[in-house]
Amino acid sequence: MGEVNPALIQDIEHRPKLAAPQAEGIPLIDLASLTGYSPSDGGAVAASTAAEWLVAEIGDACKKWGFFAVVNHGVAVEKRARIEREAREFFGQGLEEKKKVRRDEKKVLGYYETEHTKNVRDWQQVFDFTVQEPTLVPASLEDGEGGVTEWINQWPDYPPGLREACEEYAGELKKLAYKLMGLTTQSLGLPANRFDEFFEDQTSFVRLNHYPPCPAPHLALGVGRHKGLGPLTILAQDDVGWLEVKRKSDGEWVQVKPIPSAFIINVGDIIQVWSNEKYESVEHRVTVNSEKGRFSIPFFFIQPHYTMVQLPKELTDEHNPPKYRPYNWGKFLVTRKASNFKKLDVENLQIHHFRT
Ligand code: OGA
Repeated sequence: MGEVNPALIQDIEHRPKLAAPQAEGIPLIDLASLTGYSPSDGGAVAASTAAEWLVAEIGDACKKWGFFAVVNHGVAVEKRARIEREAREFFGQGLEEKKKVRRDEKKVLGYYETEHTKNVRDWQQVFDFTVQEPTLVPASLEDGEGGVTEWINQWPDYPPGLREACEEYAGELKKLAYKLMGLTTQSLGLPANRFDEFFEDQTSFVRLNHYPPCPAPHLALGVGRHKGLGPLTILAQDDVGWLEVKRKSDGEWVQVKPIPSAFIINVGDIIQVWSNEKYESVEHRVTVNSEKGRFSIPFFFIQPHYTMVQLPKELTDEHNPPKYRPYNWGKFLVTRKASNFKKLDVENLQIHHFRT
């Protein structure tokens, strides 16, 4: 095992093949027809006038892959370049500096270097910040117990521009998220703005990821296999690549090829429940390599803590009874946040625990 901490070593069946195929990649979708979009309309207007073909393309990608890439998405190149630069600067500092904004069980946002996925440690450093400040979450995990607590961001002194770059980027990404949510919702046969009210309050957050070069890329993963927790994730990845998606057609892990300035979108568990499994949340993971470090920035677009996650009534009938019991989003989120923080001896909370 050499220098590799045993906590990082994946079980044999989850270890990466070092040359996953890139062939037959995820669909690439051009959003150019939405460029008349104005931020003040929350995305609904643009989405409601989106060409039927675009809605159909998104629906098809959600069904076949659960993943797709978008170009001509309207996010300003310089805002993305700016957060990427600041993130590199932040992670480039010594551990002592980064630990000044380290997350703990009370302050759950900020820097962290011992994240776990499915109870195995990831070869990764992260910096999390929430999009809506403060983000409200349940104070207690007990069923029926009310009360909320606040999640507040921790910003480092260095680099001094990190906070502004992050806030500006989050604002841009929120606009894209509304557009994509509208298109996805329309592809389910619902009005584009059907879920918009859910996002007036949000638990959306952004993660800056850094995967340093790893001495044992055949044993460890940057992020172990997992699915998106919320409705949608919008990922900016650099040109190193190494994100892998489990292809639905044959269960093979395939690499998502980096495309300059594109975003990678995946539908998560909430869309799986809202669509009654018409669309599935697909497993993905990040492999690492011994030479190049990698950076990525996922934006997790997520509804407020008080949402009961369940099949919308318009989609429910005797032929389509709900496949999931309603669950409270906030309690789910807080439970999962605690389990990614450290190794536990039990399986993390998953939506299949609510399957009827
Ligand atoms: C994540 C994730 C993918 C990547 O951070 O949850 O899936 O490419 N990241 O970094």
